[in-house]
Amino acid sequence: MTKLPSSTRTIPEVAKVPRHIAIIMDGNGRWAKQRFMPRVMGHQRGVESLREVVKGCRELGVEYLTVFAFSSENWRRPADEVTFLMSLFVKALEREARRLQRENVRLQIIGDRSRFDDKLRQCMLDAEQLTAANTGLTFTVAANYGGRWDVMHAVQAMLREHPALASTFTEEDLQPYLSMSDAPEPDLFIRTGGEQRISNFMLWQLAYTELYFTDTLWPAFNRAELDKAIASYQTRERRFGRTSEQVQEITGKGVADA
Ligand code: IPE
Ligand code: IPE
Ligand code: MG
Repeated sequence: MTKLPSSTRTIPEVAKVPRHIAIIMDGNGRWAKQRFMPRVMGHQRGVESLREVVKGCRELGVEYLTVFAFSSENWRRPADEVTFLMSLFVKALEREARRLQRENVRLQIIGDRSRFDDKLRQCMLDAEQLTAANTGLTFTVAANYGGRWDVMHAVQAMLREHPALASTFTEEDLQPYLSMSDAPEPDLFIRTGGEQRISNFMLWQLAYTELYFTDTLWPAFNRAELDKAIASYQTRERRFGRTSEQVQEITGKGVADA
């Protein structure tokens, strides 16, 4: 397993275009409500925003895009909304998998799949397998995902394989068992819909991610909005605990050891 730099141990290289963007796609229900439509129409429209953002990330040379599609807490929604979202997943996977394949995008799904029905699980597997060898953008959809679940699950899996680590394990021991272990930590986090919270998204991985919040509702999010978020990211000074002077001194030297 490759060891990736951890933002709490080393200073990752800061590229002009974020290598990894993580998005909480929020505001679908309110978008629909504003238009006197049922909430679920917002989810349907949200798929189109996602398609545009995937395209934008490919064009910009972003390496990893990770989006929150359904949280472990979203099961608490009205049953008909949950049912609609599950069938939308199936439809979107069936419809988009071939396009992603053509566009050299590697699709992966993170989260606890055990609660999904057989059909959805099969669609997820099919889409992942179809695109597994692609070398362009890695596009990750978090479904029945929770940041706390991710950490708990990783600890359990690590201890199952290495019981002796119980009292001694380090960040580096745990890292390979986390959901996004093959990706660098997100550089830029975007949340649409106006709320300024993490809602149990990638709690571990967002440790040093630059946060960007916009009032734009997800179905209205587009390429111009993506460019705005990236422009904001490009004005940030990522210090990773250091002083501004230290950062300026090491800028351009790439990954520095802590
Ligand atoms: C985000 O939009 C999509 C999911 C959580 C599945 P919402 O459905 O949360 O939309 P709002 O926040 O109610 O407007
Ligand atoms: C977060 O949005 C989850 C997803 C976008 C999938 P929510 O709308 O569920 O978050 P809260 O409940 O407002 O925090
Ligand atoms: Mg919401």
